[in-house]
Amino acid sequence: MHYPVMLPEVLAALSPTGGQVYVDGTFGNGGYTENFLKAASCNVIGLDQDPNVLPRTEELSNTYGTRFRFIQTPFSKMSEVLAGEEIDAIILDIGVSSMQLDQAERGFSFMRAGPLDMRMQQAGPSAADAVNELSIADLTRIFKVYGEERRARRAAQFIERAREQGVITTTDQLAGIIESALGRSGKNHPATRVFQALRIFINDELGELYRGLCAAEEILKPGGRLIVVSFHSLEDRIVKKFLRRRSERPAGGSRYMPVELEVAAFEPSFTLQSRSAVMPSDQEIKDNARSRSARMRWAVRSDAPGFDNDESLLLNAPRVHDYKWAA
Ligand SMILES: C[S@@+](CC[C@H](N)C(=O)[O-])C[C@H]1O[C@@H](n2cnc3c(N)ncnc32)[C@H](O)[C@@H]1O
Repeated sequence: MHYPVMLPEVLAALSPTGGQVYVDGTFGNGGYTENFLKAASCNVIGLDQDPNVLPRTEELSNTYGTRFRFIQTPFSKMSEVLAGEEIDAIILDIGVSSMQLDQAERGFSFMRAGPLDMRMQQAGPSAADAVNELSIADLTRIFKVYGEERRARRAAQFIERAREQGVITTTDQLAGIIESALGRSGKNHPATRVFQALRIFINDELGELYRGLCAAEEILKPGGRLIVVSFHSLEDRIVKKFLRRRSERPAGGSRYMPVELEVAAFEPSFTLQSRSAVMPSDQEIKDNARSRSARMRWAVRSDAPGFDNDESLLLNAPRVHDYKWAA
């Protein structure tokens, strides 16, 4: 089961209203979608890139008929797949679902022995491909940037040593290698950060998030709401900077444009609804420990044209699409 995180806060921000059209860009187990459909006679378009959610989408179609539609796609493509639709709100609940984490065969968790996979789309290069094919320098950078692992180089060196003995194919194999590299201290498993880093890299999660925010800006109608729940500081930082850039007049000029021109040309495409992130309640954290790092930010689309997409908010780190993969 996936427990929909920060549901009361998301519902309050959305304020479901009959006749409106909402995009649940990270359908997962359909927890948000079902609650929106129950709260008002609205319509929901669910998106998810993971084909494993299909049986659940069928359940909701059987119950709610044409008020619910599903499209299997990465949410970064929503402006293409939903071109011409009138969208009143877009909700993104970033990251992996509990179902994905709990299924050993998906290979997301160091706590469950399974193939070293981690692909949400179940296509393209896997975490095992990354661990076996990338250079030590690239693995170090991935662990450092996407996992914020301080001893990234040591972890990568132990991987290099292990792959001299044979291919690394399972989650428990990798967890063991990282444990022997970093040792055990504190309450978290030593492989936590390396697994997070590989998952973000393989699914290009930060690139997806950034392109998803830009796509949302493109297709939301004036007055439409963008609501984003994220789970770690790398994601939250991108959401925060994206929304600030699009809602606040820049303080100074850049070397490309004199101050007066840049400030005069600035037309906010969003109005931020609170400067700081909304956090889960103490009760929710008590009931569901996984919710403790959730943060929600939301904003309302204005009628200004929107901004060019520049990827300067993304970290300078290896991207999965930049490599030629063997298989
Ligand atoms: C945290 S879960 C969402 C749970 C959902 N809110 C619920 O209440 O059941 C995240 C879901 O988003 C999907 N996902 C993650 N990144 C995605 C992307 N870039 N495009 C489409 N789906 C994505 C994952 O496959 C997963 O099913």
